[in-house]
Amino acid sequence: MSKLEIRIEPGHQPAPAQLPDPLGFGKHFTGRMFTRHYTQDKGWHAETIGPYRPIGLDPAAIAVHCGQMIFDGTKAYHRPDGHLNLFRPEKNAERFNRSASPMAMPPMDIDEQVQSMAELVRLEHAWTPKQEGAALYIRPVMIGLDTTLEVRASRSYLFYIILSPVAPYFAGGFKPISVLVSDDFVRTVRGGTGEAKTPGNYAGSLRGTENALSAGYQQVLWLDAVERRFVDEVGAMNIAFVYGDKHIRTPSLSGAILHGITRDSLLRLAPDLGYTVEETRIDVKEALRDVESGTITEAFGIGTGAVIAPVGRLGYQGKDYKVGTGEPGPVARHLFKGLADIQYGRIADPYGWTRKVEIQAATKAQAIGA
Ligand SMILES: Cc1ncc(COP(=O)(O)O)c(C=O)c1O
Repeated sequence: MSKLEIRIEPGHQPAPAQLPDPLGFGKHFTGRMFTRHYTQDKGWHAETIGPYRPIGLDPAAIAVHCGQMIFDGTKAYHRPDGHLNLFRPEKNAERFNRSASPMAMPPMDIDEQVQSMAELVRLEHAWTPKQEGAALYIRPVMIGLDTTLEVRASRSYLFYIILSPVAPYFAGGFKPISVLVSDDFVRTVRGGTGEAKTPGNYAGSLRGTENALSAGYQQVLWLDAVERRFVDEVGAMNIAFVYGDKHIRTPSLSGAILHGITRDSLLRLAPDLGYTVEETRIDVKEALRDVESGTITEAFGIGTGAVIAPVGRLGYQGKDYKVGTGEPGPVARHLFKGLADIQYGRIADPYGWTRKVEIQAATKAQAIGA
């Protein structure tokens, strides 16, 4: 296993005695960030943890004109013993490389990525909120730095990680979301960059999302871009439908869908909690018929932010469909608790998913709320 030599620069903003309230999502950032650079002759180098600061991008950088950028997202969770858990960080690192590939960007050693996250989180642990459901969000980013107006892959890159203390997604308890099925706008297409976490995918989703918001919905359900018939994802989450309270179906990874780590974890966990699971193509009209008949008893989004976001209402071509009772169902609650208990280290982790970040006793006492 490789071990990075990380230079620690002085002069950062320490964690405040009290974190801002309300915290929101991604509104506040910790005092330090991790950076490293890539050039063709040196490869990845200059690993540094220093003060959080602007990155000073050249106006002609390829990242700006060609959008050659990728990112990822995971969280560190407070454990009952005062240490922190990273949840399957090597999966995020693998996905970062999966994102890099179609964007013609250089991959990064998995262990080095995990070490960079763990080291930054260890130094910044005092920013981790302690309230139930809150966490320290971890955002790794890579951008193309070459200064040119040519349309080509950059030869030099900046990688950085920033951290954001985030509130629980459902602060007042589980709430159902309303979702508009988009049959005019599409997100990504097989053979494109749908499996990459690259800003272009999110930029391309903004018009459809704004339309859904102004029509009174909170999220968009994206259909496949070719036939506009099969369910892909919901907002920035994967999606699952529950049939008869027991059988869970989620769209298979078609090439246009992000490989969600929460999705992967639920597919592994749900059978151990008594459910059957199936990855398959889901025809939106069939699914809505099953919602109407009550065959589908629940639907929910799946992702790091909320873990599970129950869908209460689906809108499609001018008609609304209430899912189950319209309220969060028992399967969503069961799976949410099952996964969150592992993430926060409240129960034993039989899958080996969590990686403990040890906080030294002397510094543990400074942690927020400790
Ligand atoms: C488009 C999209 N789909 C699905 C997900 C869920 O992935 P994960 O469970 O790894 O957070 C995300 C979040 O990263 C996303 O942006």
